[in-house]
Amino acid sequence: MTQPRPAADYRAHLAEIARRTTAALEKSGYDSLILQAGEPPGWFRDDQTYPYRPHADFRLWLPLLDAPGSLLQFTPGRRPRLIFFVARDFWYQPASLPDSDWPAEFDVVTVHSRAEARAALQGPLQRTAWIGDALPELIAWGIGAINPEHLLRRLDYARAIKTPYEIECLRTANRIAASGHAAARAKFLAGGSEFDIHQAFCDACGQREQELPYNAIVAINEAAAVLHYQVLRRTPPTRARSLLLDAGASFAGYGSDITRTATAGDGADDRDFAAMVAALDRAQQALCAQVRPGADWRDIHASAVRAIAAVLVEAGVLRCSVEESLTNGAARLFFPHGIGHMLGLQVHDVGGFMADEEGATIARPALDPALRLTRVLQPGFVVTMEPGLYFIDALLEPARAADVARAIDWQRVAALQPYGGIRIEDNLAVTAQGCENLTRGIHHE
Ligand code: GLY
Ligand code: MN
Ligand code: MN
Repeated sequence: MTQPRPAADYRAHLAEIARRTTAALEKSGYDSLILQAGEPPGWFRDDQTYPYRPHADFRLWLPLLDAPGSLLQFTPGRRPRLIFFVARDFWYQPASLPDSDWPAEFDVVTVHSRAEARAALQGPLQRTAWIGDALPELIAWGIGAINPEHLLRRLDYARAIKTPYEIECLRTANRIAASGHAAARAKFLAGGSEFDIHQAFCDACGQREQELPYNAIVAINEAAAVLHYQVLRRTPPTRARSLLLDAGASFAGYGSDITRTATAGDGADDRDFAAMVAALDRAQQALCAQVRPGADWRDIHASAVRAIAAVLVEAGVLRCSVEESLTNGAARLFFPHGIGHMLGLQVHDVGGFMADEEGATIARPALDPALRLTRVLQPGFVVTMEPGLYFIDALLEPARAADVARAIDWQRVAALQPYGGIRIEDNLAVTAQGCENLTRGIHHE
């Protein structure tokens, strides 16, 4: 995969991560930190492994994606030490450092075994914290603490604010995914199956499936009602009505998370559904314009429920007012997830509920148990904006027998259910005044 370009802002990124980590270590009472890259987990009673990706805490420091067995040690005031594991192996290709500028920022020690890795660690380790898998050796190594919560919380809290380097990586991950989405849409309109569309996405991004930041959701027709639909049907439908594609690309360890809903056909129901997609797209853009420092994400979510309700009322799916649909539960039957989440090294990035670095949390609103972010936005946060509406049997069936049934036009539901649902998702970086839409290249001030 491509390596990150910006040497200058990578250096500034590394300095900022070192600064944050120094402060977190001091407050938590540790002298040094070891970050484990991790190792690919094995299949049960087999010699195969699951796809490998380095732990996010390790990836924060360096864009090294082929690093099983490696460690990074950071001691404040010293250059970070990369203990780079190179297997002596003729069955698999051993890892190698990429030809890039960033390795020069590290004190690199190459090792071939865990014992050599232990020998390469600096200093007494009783005041050293380890972040990674609890390897059996760690006790004998004399490591001070394994994944200490109070340190993890401080690091997670700080990670919400992305450096300019990270935002550039996310911008690139968006650009790569945009070409994937265009190719996927073309494949859908040409009559491709979910499987074909997925292949087209990977091809256009130049990424194999295991490199993608998350399993792409490729949902034709009614399957779009399954929020994290994971099947890739090999045969195209007899009649293609809609495609919900939720797919991102990776760059230097960062991932984009983008959803588009495409329509096909020009019958009356097709046109009605396409009009709902267009209405939700407009609503999504209006919601993006609300993203700015000081905005409380819980308020943006409440505003999203209202905007989605308005689309449903306009489309004749709801037979009550927008206000009523918020209190009688009708709106949330069609929009059961949160309006967005933090994005970065992880698709659902850490720190979404944190009130402070000590670990106090901000609760989700009682009516919105699926919300993944409850914080007040600050410059540097990167979030997704992903309103959706879906015709989900598991939610609608029980509603038929409840009071809320009167607020729903069930004939409209029956006509639209074969289309599954709609989601439109962009990635936004909060700026000093507003936000930058990394997916569409639009700035809101
Ligand atoms: N792709 C998962 C999500 O949108 O949260
Ligand atoms: Mn998504
Ligand atoms: Mn998302």
